[in-house]
Amino acid sequence: MKKIALGVTSSISIYKACEILRGFQKKGVDIQVIMTPNAAKLISPRLFSALSGKKTAVDLFGDADSDRIAHISLAEEISLLVIAPATANIIAKLANGVADDFLSTFFLAVRCPVLVAPAMNEAMYRHPQTQANILRLQAAGVEFILPEKGYLACKEEGWGRLVAPEKIIEQGLALLEKGESLKAKTVLVTAGPTREPLDPVRFLSNRSSGKMGYALAGEALRRGARVILISGPTSLFPPLGAELLPVETAADMAREVKKNLSRADVLIMAAAVADFRPAERSKQKIKKKKAPSALNLVPTEDILASLDRPGGRSKKVIIGFAAETANVTANASRKLREKKLDLIVANDVSREGIGFDSDFNQVVIIDRKGAVAESPTASKRELSRLVMDRVEGLLGRKK
Ligand code: CTP
Repeated sequence: MKKIALGVTSSISIYKACEILRGFQKKGVDIQVIMTPNAAKLISPRLFSALSGKKTAVDLFGDADSDRIAHISLAEEISLLVIAPATANIIAKLANGVADDFLSTFFLAVRCPVLVAPAMNEAMYRHPQTQANILRLQAAGVEFILPEKGYLACKEEGWGRLVAPEKIIEQGLALLEKGESLKAKTVLVTAGPTREPLDPVRFLSNRSSGKMGYALAGEALRRGARVILISGPTSLFPPLGAELLPVETAADMAREVKKNLSRADVLIMAAAVADFRPAERSKQKIKKKKAPSALNLVPTEDILASLDRPGGRSKKVIIGFAAETANVTANASRKLREKKLDLIVANDVSREGIGFDSDFNQVVIIDRKGAVAESPTASKRELSRLVMDRVEGLLGRKK
């Protein structure tokens, strides 16, 4: 039986939380309710304890005798956290990492998907600060089911009304299912640039930030996959739960990919691997007065092109990326054929505002049959979902 946590906060629509709880129960889901102290002033936690069959959690330090810290142990047990209704206050706290009650502390401890259904007065909902908080949480991977227009508690018609409980249940169940769609699969993702040293202080590199690869790793984890993330130098936090293997040069990355590929069902080469490196690597810092007038470069190994491609049961799904500045589709199609890929994700890196170092991108996904799918300009998180949907399709997991 799947277990979820239902976070309940002090919106007037709090009474709908009972219906949400019952709806999940009818689908065979076990529920632990967590209320904020303000919510507990509107409805007694006992009502939710009676409905859920479990003591409602409100107080962070309620169970002082317990040898396990309640919010940490519960975080390990659940497959989904639904916060419905969610006030402007809890959204602001979550967006800023404030942890001053059970629910906000719990949010920081969970690794599972989180679904938030806001409910508030229209002015509060439309306030730029609330909108900024929602965007910030969405960028961090939190799912939202945004309020509808309707009759509000303040006796006004407007935006801010909690969506129907059935919709919250439906989306919650879909997230639970998604959370297992790559279960028992191992996804190996490479990310970021490589650095090719010239001397102990200088290197050749590129503008890759690693954001796309990290988003892909996060999405694979959210779908229940084991994830190995081989990453060049980036300033990003690795997604929780990924096995991080940091590398520096193209040669390091090639070595790690080859060493770990046998464990993987899927390889996604999102890294911007350097194509060439300085022929000589000076052991000492090259002194200004001895600056060379030209650099001698030698090619690095093409990792994708060098991989063995076993067939049968050990056949793997292999996905490449293509960074282009012209003729995107034609160049990417050629790379797909030459590197024997199942799929290539191509983008035009010469376009302003998207691609390198941006949170957004626009890509073209090409498969072996030559089918070309163009994405809209979207966040790298949204694009990572598109790519992972295709991975599921290639693994035969997609319904
Ligand atoms: N790649 C690789 N090893 C390299 C260079 C690139 O495995 N030494 C991978 C990248 O991770 C990407 C794909 O090959 O998945 C295409 O990379 P890209 O830089 O677009 O193309 P290149 O093959 O380097 O070709 P070109 O520089 O001519 O565009």
